[in-house]
Amino acid sequence: PKLIFIEADGTRTEVDAPVGKSVMEAARDGNVSGVVADCGGSLACATCHCYFSNDQIADLPAKSDTEADMLDFANAEVKDGSRLSCQIIVTEAMDGWEINVPDTQ
Ligand code: FES
Repeated sequence: PKLIFIEADGTRTEVDAPVGKSVMEAARDGNVSGVVADCGGSLACATCHCYFSNDQIADLPAKSDTEADMLDFANAEVKDGSRLSCQIIVTEAMDGWEINVPDTQ
């Protein structure tokens, strides 16, 4: 599926996201600079923070307690749609999703 990352300055980057990889990996491999992912996906940094829409959140598995705890360390504003993208696994159903990237990580 294709994912479209929209960075805080409006830059849109469309990436081919392999099913089974994380959204963070798709962003990193697509050179989306606003997704930093310092810890490489081990849920220890909160620098893969992204904003998902209400509809997208409804389609995603709920966040774990650990993800919720780590989100407290995010540098950007935490909103209802905030998730750590290393914890979101790409599925075919995500084709065409637009995912917003915070202004800081
Ligand atoms: Fe570190 Fe997601 S990459 S928490």
